[in-house]
Amino acid sequence: MIHLENVSKTYRIGAREIHAAKGVNLHVKTGEIFGVVGHSGAGKSTLVRLINRLETADAGRILVDGDEVLSLDPDELRALRRRVGMIFQHFNLLGSRTVAQNVAIPLRVAGLTDSEQINARVAELLDLVGLADQRHEYPAQLSGGQKQRVGIARALANRPKVLLCDEATSALDPQTTRSVLELLEQINRSLGLTIVLITHEMNVVRSICDRVAVMDGGEIVESGAVTQVFLHPQHPTSRAFVNEAEHLDELEEVLKVANVEGRVVRLTFIGDDAYAPHLAHAVREHGLDFTILSGHIERIKTTPCGQLTLALRGTSRAQDVAISHLKQQGVGVEFLQ
Ligand SMILES: Nc1ncnc2c1ncn2[C@@H]1O[C@H](COP(=O)(O)OP(=O)(O)OP(=O)(O)O)[C@@H](O)[C@H]1O
Ligand SMILES: [Mg+2]
Repeated sequence: MIHLENVSKTYRIGAREIHAAKGVNLHVKTGEIFGVVGHSGAGKSTLVRLINRLETADAGRILVDGDEVLSLDPDELRALRRRVGMIFQHFNLLGSRTVAQNVAIPLRVAGLTDSEQINARVAELLDLVGLADQRHEYPAQLSGGQKQRVGIARALANRPKVLLCDEATSALDPQTTRSVLELLEQINRSLGLTIVLITHEMNVVRSICDRVAVMDGGEIVESGAVTQVFLHPQHPTSRAFVNEAEHLDELEEVLKVANVEGRVVRLTFIGDDAYAPHLAHAVREHGLDFTILSGHIERIKTTPCGQLTLALRGTSRAQDVAISHLKQQGVGVEFLQ
């Protein structure tokens, strides 16, 4: 659905050059929820704005739903923007218009004039986002979560194929964030909509994204399935994001504090294995002995995943037998020391 090839964007302020996108390659599949995570200034907003040409790339190739974004004429660009909806951190609603009027704006801009048709579509959209009862209220009368639901309804008005979300939950408390993410996931499933979700919170990525790209300094430093990036982050920036989300300390510090000698192993359990007694068997049947340095079980989207970091004790022969038993059971094994 979205294909970026070697895309670059440099801003010039006086003599200063800011490379907001540097040789970015990105492929978003139809129907997936794709997360882009990065610190402030990493280039996330620039990246989404390049997709609908709110910013124009200096170099590279951008394909959205088959269109060469960089060579569209103004009419074609307007047509593209109807197929690519966008929601924002601060909602961008018109304060002087009611909820229903805000949602009707993109329909009128797209050329719809029949008020019965407009009202019917607005009612459908407000039902979808759970705001039917608030249709005559003004933005100032709504909570943050409700405002974002209006933003979502407005973005979906012209039945886009893609929804770009730039920090759509950053202004919301954790519980409201959850409910807005659930709405996005439901829309993704029921409408088959492709979603690109920009965030600086890895927990947002974990709860609804299928794949993720990590950005740093205008570059994508790592990308892949969310399970892969979460359980085995390769780049220091990805590791920092995952550790922050999991409340984990850097391994080096844990090892220093625990004063560990000998082998340290990280076990990864995915799917039903997260709740299976594989480790108990290794202890009972093979005499595995260890101390736990860190561990957690969680869900990545709908997949349960567990990770345990252990300092192994006992003879290395007993360790080897137990570890190969765990590997046979499908447990992921990585030696960290
Ligand atoms: N219109 C602009 N003119 C000049 N510099 C810009 C412009 N827009 C962005 N930048 C710069 O480009 C870099 C990337 O900005 P961008 O807004 O894409 O980051 P971001 O990852 O979205 O950050 P945040 O998490 O704070 O929203 C930053 O250094 C920013 O200052
Ligand atoms: Mg931004």
